[in-house]
Amino acid sequence: MHLLILGGTTEARRLAELLHGTPGLEVTSSLAGRVASPRLPPGGTRVGGFGGAEGLTAWLREHGADAVVDATHPFAGTISFHAARAAATARVPLLALRRPGWTPVEGDRWHEAGSLEEAARLLPALGRRVFLTTGRTGLAAFADLEQLWFLVRSVDAPEPPHPAAMEVLLDRGPFTLDGERGLLRRHRIDVVVT
Ligand SMILES: NC(=O)c1ccc[n+]([C@@H]2O[C@H](COP(=O)([O-])OP(=O)(O)OC[C@H]3O[C@@H](n4cnc5c(N)ncnc54)[C@H](OP(=O)(O)O)[C@@H]3O)[C@@H](O)[C@H]2O)c1
Repeated sequence: MHLLILGGTTEARRLAELLHGTPGLEVTSSLAGRVASPRLPPGGTRVGGFGGAEGLTAWLREHGADAVVDATHPFAGTISFHAARAAATARVPLLALRRPGWTPVEGDRWHEAGSLEEAARLLPALGRRVFLTTGRTGLAAFADLEQLWFLVRSVDAPEPPHPAAMEVLLDRGPFTLDGERGLLRRHRIDVVVT
């Protein structure tokens, strides 16, 4: 059996580790190629886009894939959509690994934003010191907020345009609750964008 894991997450890597060495099972993990030096899971790997749902369908057929696991990040909506379409077209079963969403608890102060741009518009009213966890590719939306200070966490260093007052923390998950609390205190963060 040949299994394709659409990855780029801790869960995907963990799944590949768990399946590695299973007799009769060939696993290929697929990464988008966003990170310069990704942590590769054991087993077969491939890096880069497939060329849309059609490209993924062709890949599944060419490589005789018997099943697909979509273990991509919750923010990665396009690939999940393509995976659903391609798996249906190629008549290959798809298992989508979904992280449970957050649910608000008493005392939470959440401000929903429909886009990074909308989040940027809301920010000045919410605080001065901002922790941005949305990755290096969305920084342009916050570049004009000159009155605010940003802590930006990303795997690879961001490129302009980005906010002028910014400290970059190069790190990759998984992160721990205690570690995150310490980070927020150390940097006196008022507001988190996530
Ligand atoms: N977005 C985040 O915040 C975030 C956080 C952590 C990890 N990641 C990981 O980073 C990757 C890219 O995220 P994204 O938000 O840019 O995705 P996206 O917007 O859903 O996908 C954009 C395009 O990237 C390619 N792609 C995405 N995931 C792929 C994979 N696992 N293997 C091969 N091609 C893939 C596909 O190109 P084609 O159409 O050419 O096939 C897709 O159309 C994902 O694999 C995700 O698991 C993302």
